Amino acid sequence: MKAGDKTGAQAEIDRLRVEIEQHNYRYYVEDAPSVSDAEYDALMRKLQELESAHPELVTPESPTQRVGATPLAAFGAVTHAVPMLSLGNAFDEEEVRAFDKRVTDTLRSSGQLGPASQPDYFCELKLDGLAISLRYENGKLVQAATRGDGQTGEDVTANIRTIRSIPLQLKPGAPRVLEVRGEVLMNRREFERLNAAQAERGEKVFVNPRNAAAGSLRQLDPRITAQRPLRFFAYGWGEVHGLANRQTGLFDEPAPGVRQAATLPRESHSAMLDWLAELGLPINTQHNRKATGADGLLAFYARVAKLRPTLAYDIDGVVYKVDSLPAQKVLGFVARAPRFALAHKYPAEEATTALLDIEVQVGRTGAITPVARLQPVFVGGVTVTNATLHNEDEIRRKDVRIGDTVIVRRAGDVIPEVVGPVLEKRPADAAPFDMKKKYPVCPVCGSAIERPEGEAIARCTGGLFCAAQRKQTLLHAAGRKALDIEGLGEKLVDQLVERDRVKSLADIYGLTVEELAGYDRMGTKSAENVVRAIDKARTPTLGRLLFALGIRHVGETTARDVARHFGDMDAIMDAGEEQLLEVPDVGPAVAASIHRFFAEPHNRDIVEALKRQGVHPVAEAAARSGGLSGKTFVLTGTLPTLTREEATSHILAAGGKVSGSVSKKTAYVVAGADAGSKLANAQKLGVPVLDEDGLKQLLGME
Ligand code: IVH
Repeated sequence: MKAGDKTGAQAEIDRLRVEIEQHNYRYYVEDAPSVSDAEYDALMRKLQELESAHPELVTPESPTQRVGATPLAAFGAVTHAVPMLSLGNAFDEEEVRAFDKRVTDTLRSSGQLGPASQPDYFCELKLDGLAISLRYENGKLVQAATRGDGQTGEDVTANIRTIRSIPLQLKPGAPRVLEVRGEVLMNRREFERLNAAQAERGEKVFVNPRNAAAGSLRQLDPRITAQRPLRFFAYGWGEVHGLANRQTGLFDEPAPGVRQAATLPRESHSAMLDWLAELGLPINTQHNRKATGADGLLAFYARVAKLRPTLAYDIDGVVYKVDSLPAQKVLGFVARAPRFALAHKYPAEEATTALLDIEVQVGRTGAITPVARLQPVFVGGVTVTNATLHNEDEIRRKDVRIGDTVIVRRAGDVIPEVVGPVLEKRPADAAPFDMKKKYPVCPVCGSAIERPEGEAIARCTGGLFCAAQRKQTLLHAAGRKALDIEGLGEKLVDQLVERDRVKSLADIYGLTVEELAGYDRMGTKSAENVVRAIDKARTPTLGRLLFALGIRHVGETTARDVARHFGDMDAIMDAGEEQLLEVPDVGPAVAASIHRFFAEPHNRDIVEALKRQGVHPVAEAAARSGGLSGKTFVLTGTLPTLTREEATSHILAAGGKVSGSVSKKTAYVVAGADAGSKLANAQKLGVPVLDEDGLKQLLGME
């Protein structure tokens, strides 16, 4: 191409713009980039060079023009041509059934639905961000506005243009006017990263991803917004004018004042979303689903509830929409919400409450964990009174103080945690928390607390002298994955340790029905059961016994591998680090930890005492012949009947291994519903993929 060759430059510029926007889509929408950052940057640079040589060819839709250089003085007001409504809420099954009944009755009596048919719905995630309306004219993004009061919002066009997943130019076939409605949000992980960076710079931290997204969009300087990791999903539309004739690519102009329903190209909400996707807009296709009747809605709700803790972003519910647009029209609106749609909410994952005190818990390995004592609060579906504060550094980083009002988070089955203080509500006399001052020594045993340089965790140095460590050690040993002693739970262990009846694991095996029957909350019957369970635990597998000893860094899988390799306890006790390193998957930290453990005379004494009590581990079950020995499995998605834990334990029992990531060495990927990138990787690497039935067959479970 010759310099100054305008048509050549125009063609090259057009080509680069399309290519760059395709990469934006792959990166920001599909999460599957197909070029490296360097290649992407090179394309951008080339476009910038061409545009500075031909400034007359610069258009507002060029990817180089996403970030404006001049801050605004204030946001203008935008009146929505079609109001932005809200949704009616449901909090339980009954309300969902009532909604479905109202819809069904109305549609049947209007003839939209046969007397025996059930309505078809489209189900979506209720994204916890902020609603935005994007206005495209002749395919170009001309305006973006917040919801505001539903009638009038703020003009945030300059900021919205910085969001890479939002097309500045729609694909061919766009109508003359198209208002796209959707949600702007921030991924949780990126929110946390943003907050950490904000805190480091001494700037404002945000309480949750929604506030971070809203705060980022309310920046008067779009250069700041451009640095915030915002995303967008479209879920609806407002004004639509003059739909394109999709065969000819020409616009068929409607008569002035005629709009939408009559001229919509598709007859259903889901088909409309497909069309928006074809125009280049990001739609949450991975999770959206069709469903029929109330049972279909409730099944969607239950499935998404399981998925919720694994999503990259926060949702506060799901949304059900009657799919047929003519049916939506019949149903109409009530007050400011449609009768054809419903938000079904999940229990909030975050709530605020008073932080009454900070105490510490001593774990099995002596780790000191600060725990927040809270004014009871209902969050994540349960009443929470305690929440973890992780460690001393976390308390300092979050600057959480006794007396603060704090945000508590409980997502899925995860332990509740304190997210941070609500600074506006801080009492004037709240002092920074000083862990060393409040807990100079272990509050359980009075031993010194040590915190090695460079480590986040402070530890009680009391070892098994510390009652807290002893209790946790015993509970660990009695656990299901270790010696599996049913009935030896917290209440009993507390009493055994407090009466000093049990000093080490071996003492458990000397317990009698007579003495246990006299303990609190124990009768003869339960005492007999516990003693029987203890008896059964005299012949654990070697791997379980090794795991029960609670050696640092030795999980159940490592314990099993080591047991298989050495075959008996004496060999393990006498193994040097080098020999331990011969076990597949055992690295230096694990080898050193096992070696150090058995170098301690009192640990060897425990093993000897166990022998004297008649504890004789049996050899680890060899992998079945022709079985799964050494084969690595990767699980992804939700299986129809097996939980992830169940599938894992079946595979382990058959001699296989389970790993979290797919590589060429993976033998099988077991994929269920909503399998993600692991499935894609398996396909790329040619790793065989099984469904649940396939797995069961392989395991001989069928
Ligand atoms: S539809 C006519 N779909 O929820 C109703 N809203 O409570 C238009 N939201 O302001 C909304 N995800 O900010 C719809 N898949 C989804 C949604 C969704 C999140 C938000 C939206 C709206 C609010 C209504």
